[in-house]
Amino acid sequence: MTIAVIGSNMVDLISYIERMPNKGETIEAPDFSLGCGGKGANQAVAAAKCGAKVMMMTKVGDDIFGPNTIKNLESFGIDTSLCSIVPNMSSGVAPIFVDPKSQNSILIIKGANKELKPQDIDAAEDKLKECELIILQLEISLDTVYHAIEFGRKHGIEVLLNPAPADPNLSLEKISSCAFFMPNESELATLTKMPVDTDEQVLAAGNKLIEAGIKNVIVTMGSRGSMLINKDGHNKILPYKVNAIDTSGAGDAFIGSFSKYYVEHHNILEAMKVASAFAALSVTRRGTQKSYPTIDELNAFIASQS
Ligand code: RIB
Repeated sequence: MTIAVIGSNMVDLISYIERMPNKGETIEAPDFSLGCGGKGANQAVAAAKCGAKVMMMTKVGDDIFGPNTIKNLESFGIDTSLCSIVPNMSSGVAPIFVDPKSQNSILIIKGANKELKPQDIDAAEDKLKECELIILQLEISLDTVYHAIEFGRKHGIEVLLNPAPADPNLSLEKISSCAFFMPNESELATLTKMPVDTDEQVLAAGNKLIEAGIKNVIVTMGSRGSMLINKDGHNKILPYKVNAIDTSGAGDAFIGSFSKYYVEHHNILEAMKVASAFAALSVTRRGTQKSYPTIDELNAFIASQS
């Protein structure tokens, strides 16, 4: 049961700040941390840490970061045979700012991620068609995302699309065959142009996507929990109460861990419950991938809550 992540990698440059500097101002921030990130790589690592068999298709630059990114994926047992180094390109990087309330603001410079093309998917057809779930995000080109969705449709492989960062140009028609569409509330608002302040509004916006043909919409809402919406109705999974210190990468933690438990048991609500626990633990620590718990920590946390 292999999960294929076709997507991004970044080097996360995380500054822990008291506030953002004003124009022309220089201020000191208390702390900094360097780590491997990128929504695709984070999701791959989260799934692998939960015990999934994962392959990742991604592109890195030929700078000091590229080989380390691939080595990092390998250290989690991820199959990197579809990862490659692009000559004369920088790797993707993400300056991240985390404020004292644990909220993050992220800039991404895609670098080599932009070079992941539809032809790369075709060239890897024999390998990719063996997987059970394809996970996608929007830190690579939209053409490649659409091609991967079409590849999944053609081969009968379920596709999970995390529409992050939100792109108002995303074509609902081209993503309608996705089995899972997993935005956070603000991405859902951008895509549907509908308000999402209350659960009722989230449900109405999610239903707009269900009407467009998507099978399951799962909205991650941080401390408000998560909501599954499909043609049978909707279900809300309540969040675990934890002391959050850094929420960066928590959505990716949810998606990667959800995928592992979904491909294993095909029980969406149960997979969402485990993913809530995995993501909750991740916000209690600093960093993106670095904050993801081990499977033993995850199981101990779930046991302690029941
Ligand atoms: O979702 C968090 C991720 O977004 C970070 O790891 C950063 O690299 C950006 O891709």
